[in-house]
Amino acid sequence: MTMTPLAVDASAMRRTMGRFATGVAVVTTESDGVPHGMTINSLTSVSLEPALLLVCFNRGARSADAVVAAGRFAVNILSSRQQTIALRFAQRGEDHFAGLGLEYDGHRVPVVPHALAHLDCDVERVVEAGDHTVVFGAVRDLCSREGGALGFFRGNFSSIVPHGSEPEHWFF
Ligand SMILES: Cc1cc2nc3c(=O)[nH]c(=O)nc-3n(C[C@H](O)[C@H](O)[C@H](O)COP(=O)(O)O)c2cc1C
Repeated sequence: MTMTPLAVDASAMRRTMGRFATGVAVVTTESDGVPHGMTINSLTSVSLEPALLLVCFNRGARSADAVVAAGRFAVNILSSRQQTIALRFAQRGEDHFAGLGLEYDGHRVPVVPHALAHLDCDVERVVEAGDHTVVFGAVRDLCSREGGALGFFRGNFSSIVPHGSEPEHWFF
């Protein structure tokens, strides 16, 4: 049996997938001595052993080219207090780090200070998919701290705070 693909309207796809609430992160890298950073919410944990994640970059995003060229990047998961950082790194054509003060992790990748978590990655694989470039990262180092996360739902930012103080144990 053959399936005829339905032509799904891009704005309907965006609106519908916007019902899937996510956190928000900034992907950072440095290529040819120039720091780059970009707000993303397409972050997915792919594998635990080995530790792999993926990020989907819109084709034409300058930071995607920089990540592939550098061969490494950091994922900075934003805290609930970092909405202005998310907006700053979502501006097209800006010097995203202007006035921020550069900080580097132990692997010489620029990082966003005071983030909820940092994951330092090597580019493991690059897959072109539709109008996006999917970059798989092999996680080399990571750190995290307590606190609420910045959320994104139906095009709006929100705060995600844990319900209780007891850690949840979950498996998949
Ligand atoms: C909450 C939020 C999530 C975003 N997620 C993504 C994403 O996952 N992938 C992507 O390509 N762009 C995403 N964007 C858009 C980019 O941040 C934006 O296009 C940015 O200007 C690209 O920067 P650059 O082209 O200077 O690298 C997101 C923007 C916001 C505000």
